[in-house]
Amino acid sequence: MKAFIAAANWKLNKGPSETEEFFRTWKTLDGVHRKSSVVIFPPALCAGTVSQLAAGAHVQWGAQHAATEKQGAFTGENSMETLSKMGGTYVLIGHSERRQLYGETDILCAKKVNLAQSLGLTPMLCLGETLAERKAGKTNEVLGQQLGAGLSLVVQDKTLTIAYEPVWAIGTGAVAEPEQIREAHQFLREALQKLVSAKTGESTPLLYGGSVNAHNAKALSQIPNVDGFLVGGASLDPETFAQVAAARWL
Ligand code: PGA
Repeated sequence: MKAFIAAANWKLNKGPSETEEFFRTWKTLDGVHRKSSVVIFPPALCAGTVSQLAAGAHVQWGAQHAATEKQGAFTGENSMETLSKMGGTYVLIGHSERRQLYGETDILCAKKVNLAQSLGLTPMLCLGETLAERKAGKTNEVLGQQLGAGLSLVVQDKTLTIAYEPVWAIGTGAVAEPEQIREAHQFLREALQKLVSAKTGESTPLLYGGSVNAHNAKALSQIPNVDGFLVGGASLDPETFAQVAAARWL
């Protein structure tokens, strides 16, 4: 059975002391959430704290945002090379907040996917349709476009993860219907097979994100081709996040 990934996107929440507090509680929690592969995306200024605490807590971690270049005159950016040296293993790429608020484009995402894979990091490429696009019947078109463009520089046989996050379900409490998620994940699985390879199509974990919480996680985890969750609000509290990570196994 594929590993089930529970990824926490803390966004711009928590500083070092709240991060320490999270890990203190997390380490005391004993349960089936440990069967899931847990990844934490802290705010960049907490990376040092997380890098010290993650290994002992059996979690992996990554950057919410990183540059397309390893180093140089790029004020304000985060380096994937440094992330890797610090023990980080994942990079979130193309989150809808980055696309909408900071104008990140598909080609930028493609370059980041390429650099992450070249450095041995696992990209978590986020994609999803807006409500207007869904209402216009364009969901598959948008997903296909974002996937194709975001993977235009993909490196064969390197690890990859995809997070399907309908924009209208992020932080709204309006979780997508199981059938909508099933259809989108099936579409992405098949598109990956065509775009990259049969092997990548089969092995790439497809995560769902958008208002996942401790109450809906079990039902969502049973949808075919849902191999994990990318969780915002419900990942901030360690007990709640452990319940989300456990849901697949209950
Ligand atoms: P949410 O955020 O769980 O708060 O909806 C998900 C995300 O933005 O990745």
